[in-house]
Amino acid sequence: MKTILVTGGSGYIGSHTVRQLLDADYKVVVLDNFANSSAESLSRVSKICGKAPDLVEGDIRDAVCLNSIFAKYKIDSVIHFAGLKAVGESVEKPLMYYENNVYGTLNLCKVMAANHVKNIVFSSSATVYGDPIELPLNENLPTGKPTNPYGMSKLMVEHMLTDMQNADPEWNVVLLRYFNPAGANSSGTIGEDPNGIPNNLMPFISQVATGKREFLSVFGDDYDTHDGTGVRDYIHVEDLADGHLKALNKIDQKAGLFICNLGTGQGYSVLDMVQAFEKASGQTVAYKIAPRRSGDVASCYADPALAASELGWSAKKGLQEMCEDSWRWQSQNPDGFPK
Ligand code: NAD
Ligand code: WQD
Repeated sequence: MKTILVTGGSGYIGSHTVRQLLDADYKVVVLDNFANSSAESLSRVSKICGKAPDLVEGDIRDAVCLNSIFAKYKIDSVIHFAGLKAVGESVEKPLMYYENNVYGTLNLCKVMAANHVKNIVFSSSATVYGDPIELPLNENLPTGKPTNPYGMSKLMVEHMLTDMQNADPEWNVVLLRYFNPAGANSSGTIGEDPNGIPNNLMPFISQVATGKREFLSVFGDDYDTHDGTGVRDYIHVEDLADGHLKALNKIDQKAGLFICNLGTGQGYSVLDMVQAFEKASGQTVAYKIAPRRSGDVASCYADPALAASELGWSAKKGLQEMCEDSWRWQSQNPDGFPK
C-alpha cells in the first residue's frame, strides 16, 4: 500500500482527492494549516468512505514539521494542493502569496529531496496561459503573463519545478493545469466552502439560488462570445480529483517532467451556467449585468487531448451533474462546514 502526502488535503479539491485515494486503497497523510478549511471536511470524507487519512496540522513553510512527516511515514509521492488562491487578495497582499505559494513549495521540495522523495503532483492553473493567443489551449502554447500575483505565483512554481527536474532527472514532476473546478461529491456532504463573498462564479450562483445573496453580477455582456458573457471550461471536482490518481500512475511509469491540462474542452458562458443551475435546482437565479471585471479574459477552455492520450483521463461528468451536485451541497450546507 503506497503512502501519499497530500498538502492542503482538507480544502475543496484536496478533500475530494483524499476520498478517491482512500477508496483506491492508498494510505493518505494530509498536511494542512487550515488557512482556508477545517478538519470537518476530512471527518466527512471518512464518513463517505469508511476510512480516514492521518492528519497533521502544520505548514508547508515549516521544515521541521515537514521533516517529521517524512521521518514518520514512508511517503511515496506528494500531491501538493496547499496554497492561497484568492485573486483579489493576492493583488492586495502579493508578498503573502509569493511566500505561501512559491517559498512554501520551494521549502517542500527541499525537504522532499533531503528525504529522497522525488515524486510530486502540483496544482497549477489555466491562469498560466494568460490571455489566450489561441483556443482551445494546448500545453505546447507558450505560457503568458498572468494578470495577478496569484497567477504569477503558479507560473513561478511551474518554472521552479521544471528547472529542478531538469537539474535532477530522478524527479518526477507532474504539473496539472486545472481549468474551472465546480460541483461537489454526490453525497452533498463535502464541497466548496469559500470565506465571505465568493469570488468565483459557481459558489456565487449557488448562494443566489439558496437566497443567501440577492443577485449575481454578470461581469460584462459585451465579450466576443456567443452571448457576450465570459466563457470558461468548468470541470467537475470529482473528475479533477480522478486526474490526480491518473497522475500518480504516470509517476509510476517514470513521468519525468509532465505538464498537462485538466479540462473538458467544452466552454460555457456565464448565462449558460445560470440557466443550467436554474434547471438543476428548480430555483431562479436573479442576475444583473455589471461592468467587466479587470483581468478577465473573454474565453478560456482546454484542449484535453494530452490528458486522454498520456494519462488515460477524460472528464466524465457534464454541466448538469456539476450543477446538481453543487446544489445538493449548497442546499444541505447553506453556511458551508460548521465553523
Ligand atoms: P482550498 O483553499 O480549498 O485548498 C487549499 C488548502 O491548502 C486549504 O485547505 C488551506 O488551508 C491549505 N493551505 C494553504 N496554505 C497552506 C500552507 N502554507 N500550509 C499548509 N496548508 C495550507 O483551494 P482549492 O480550490 O482546493 O485549491 C487547491 C489548489 O489548487 C491550490 O493550490 C489552488 O491554487 C489550485 N487551483 C485551484 C483552482 C480553483 O479554482 N479552485 C484552480 C486552479 C488551481
Ligand atoms: C468565471 C466567469 C467571470 C463571478 C479564477 C481564477 C483562476 C482560477 C479559477 C485558480 C468569468 C464570471 C464570476 C461573478 C461573473 N483559480 N463571473 N460574476 O476568473 O475563470 O478564474 O478562478 O487557479 O486563476 O482567476 O473564474 O469563477 O471567477 O469566473 O460574471 O460574480 O464568471 O467574469 O467570466 P475565472 P471565476
